[in-house]
Amino acid sequence: MSRVLITGAAGFIGSHTADLLLQEGHTVVGLDNFRTGQPGNLSVARGHERFRFVEGDFTDGPALARLLGEFRPDAVIHLAAMVSVPESIARPEENDRLNRRGTRLVAEAARAAGVRRMVFASSAAVYGLCPDLPLQEASAGHPISPYGEAKWDSEAILLSAFPESAPDLVARCHRYFNVYGPRQDPTSPYSGVISRFAAALRAGTAPTILGDGGQTRDFIYVGDVARANVIAATAPDLRSGVANICTGQAVSLNELWQTLRALCGSNLEALSGPARAGDIRHSVGAPGRALAELGFTARTSLEAGLRALMAS
Ligand code: UD1
Repeated sequence: MSRVLITGAAGFIGSHTADLLLQEGHTVVGLDNFRTGQPGNLSVARGHERFRFVEGDFTDGPALARLLGEFRPDAVIHLAAMVSVPESIARPEENDRLNRRGTRLVAEAARAAGVRRMVFASSAAVYGLCPDLPLQEASAGHPISPYGEAKWDSEAILLSAFPESAPDLVARCHRYFNVYGPRQDPTSPYSGVISRFAAALRAGTAPTILGDGGQTRDFIYVGDVARANVIAATAPDLRSGVANICTGQAVSLNELWQTLRALCGSNLEALSGPARAGDIRHSVGAPGRALAELGFTARTSLEAGLRALMAS
């Protein structure tokens, strides 16, 4: 059994990762300052005797070093970040502090404390406008937002702190595609589209499809993402590396809306709005490397994931 520190534990992905680690018998310390995380996301984890929560800022170096020294984790899962692409454009300095320098700080503190394994939340944003689909790990490197740039740089920071040449040190960088599921915050115009569609259906109001709805995404259920995190943090005999965390299935916005609507037995019609400036037309990941290097494959069908979301 492992001891795992999760930064951003009260976030959408962090809280599901904590729940799954606890369910599998591991011991977890969750760190979060509630910048975007929500206390309510930890209601399951808090009921567990192997869980401890620390309210704090991961960029507070001395406090992080103390926590690492005291808890002595086998692995650190670093998910705390500025999670919004539009916010990274509006506040590039803060993006740099949280999403680039913050990663360096966590990697260095973890190494100094003798931590041998790190898992990092990278993003499909590192692919930018790459036209070669499905997106293969080697095609990344031309991000088009400060957020994507910081995630790209952070991968390099981690792989140099935990190099493949040192087999007892492992950093796994997960390029998450479009993650959805319970606990995702639907309140911002830039929240994940599935959380917005689900909130609209619950309220009985029409959602808006931006553009013609023919754009596609690779939607992955948060429970699958949590499982990828748990494998990367705890499985024996891994090597450092980067892999897409995706399903390999492209789903159009129109298909998504029809599937969700049918599942809810709703006859609401979606409104049509102007395409979002800078929107990517098609995004789908190649899932082969995660299977080869982690034994990970997404198991939750879109229908099953949407059903779990609507039941939550
Ligand atoms: C996603 C990520 C982002 C990442 C990017 C990398 C989320 C929430 N965001 O952005 O962090 O950098 O992938 O490729 O996962 N849409 C509507 N109606 C709405 C909201 C959105 O039609 O009310 C459309 C958007 O125009 C877009 C699609 O739905 O075409 C998906 O949008 P969104 O969920 O915001 O994710 P991405 O833009 O793919």
